[in-house]
Amino acid sequence: MKILTIVGARPNFMKAGPIIGAINEHNRTLLENSANRPRQQVEAIRHVLVHTGQHYDEFMSGSFFNDLNLPKPDVHLGVGSGSHAVQTAEIMKKFEEVLLGEKPDVVVVVGDVNSTLACALVTSKICFDADGSRPLISHVEAGLRSFDRSMPEEINRILTDHVSDLLFVTEESGLRNLRNEGVSPDKVHFVGNTMIDSLLNFKEKAEKSTVLERLALVGQAGKNGGANAVTRYALLTLHRPSNVDNRAVFLNILGGLEELATDCPVVFPVHPRTQRRIREFGIEFDPGEAAKERKGDLRGSGNCRGGIVLTDPLGYLDFLCLMKHATLVVTDSGGIQEETTILGVPCITVRENTERPATVESGTNTIAGTKTETIKDAIRRQVGRKRENSVPKNWDGRAGARIVDILVRRHYEAFSFRRSLIAHAAPLRTDAPAANSIDA
Ligand code: UD1
Repeated sequence: MKILTIVGARPNFMKAGPIIGAINEHNRTLLENSANRPRQQVEAIRHVLVHTGQHYDEFMSGSFFNDLNLPKPDVHLGVGSGSHAVQTAEIMKKFEEVLLGEKPDVVVVVGDVNSTLACALVTSKICFDADGSRPLISHVEAGLRSFDRSMPEEINRILTDHVSDLLFVTEESGLRNLRNEGVSPDKVHFVGNTMIDSLLNFKEKAEKSTVLERLALVGQAGKNGGANAVTRYALLTLHRPSNVDNRAVFLNILGGLEELATDCPVVFPVHPRTQRRIREFGIEFDPGEAAKERKGDLRGSGNCRGGIVLTDPLGYLDFLCLMKHATLVVTDSGGIQEETTILGVPCITVRENTERPATVESGTNTIAGTKTETIKDAIRRQVGRKRENSVPKNWDGRAGARIVDILVRRHYEAFSFRRSLIAHAAPLRTDAPAANSIDA
């Protein structure tokens, strides 16, 4: 059995890692339990990791491979940035060649980025032989819906789900959404959240990060040296085009953070898109008093808005450490809403909606919109809130293992079915259409 997994953009890496880990575990167990069987009877899963190159630099991609112990990609498509159409088309063109060469049994796509849709779409139309055989398409993180079709990710989610054969759902809303869209229930599996598998797996390691010291957010005793050693701080991320590509909206959001930033430092690792907009819009971040104490990887620091501390995008372990110790997180990211839920850290989402309602139902996340006043109100309410650790169903660190179990079972069911077909087959047709022909 051959599984090909696609990664492309930053949020994909922590979702794919646990699946690769579960494949390795499956192969290890298989070998251990097969000591007395001939080697050829032990069919390990062969895995191929494809990186589309949607994200390509050290900050957005390279450091995640180190932090998450991911294997080097077997294939790198190197597509880079572009408009949605150009990026999606480039991935599709290059991925088709890879698929025809590798002929996997299963293609795993994760999340909702352009790489996810591009590779699912190519796989849905490929055919390897005259029977039209193609890999099973497995979508990890299926069924999430913001019901906001102006988000490129919402289009990617809907289309990917509707061409997929196996839909792996992270939360109960996903089951409802897919049912309402008429997706056959036997394709859908509620397995939990592989991003949370990564979080639980790396939480302890993240404690060794030196990011708190580098940002001068920890007292003399060191972060493990006393209950109050870590300074109160908030963490901010913003990268959605709808929030940062429009100057007025961006300034509204920053306005909503002014009060918070006079109360405590607000650490702001800045996504490349957001960095570009800050430059283009001429948004000033003046150095402030607090800046003098900070050193390391800071580019700007404490500023006119109080204490917004700018950094380059951070690696997985540094960011996890910062999230875990934050008083409050303000974000427009999807994954961070989920990670703060498990960490029990109050989160404010600066969007009008979320595709992840479990994070609100479980109590840590508040949807604040993007207006200055609604953000200020939400912050006031969240700041005093005590930490709660609530765990949505199946967010238990076992999602990757469940997915691989299902893939293996489905593969062998299909294999047995094909064998029974061959046993009863009619003689082969010689006039069958050529593989990959688009003619009827
Ligand atoms: C993409 C995903 C989004 C995800 C986000 C996480 C889509 C439609 N969007 O958005 O869902 O939340 O990733 O970051 O797939 N850039 C770099 N270095 C890189 C990659 C990008 O500098 O390694 C810059 C480029 O200037 C690029 C811009 O960032 O134009 C945006 O990158 P892009 O992949 O287009 O989308 P994101 O905004 O990152």
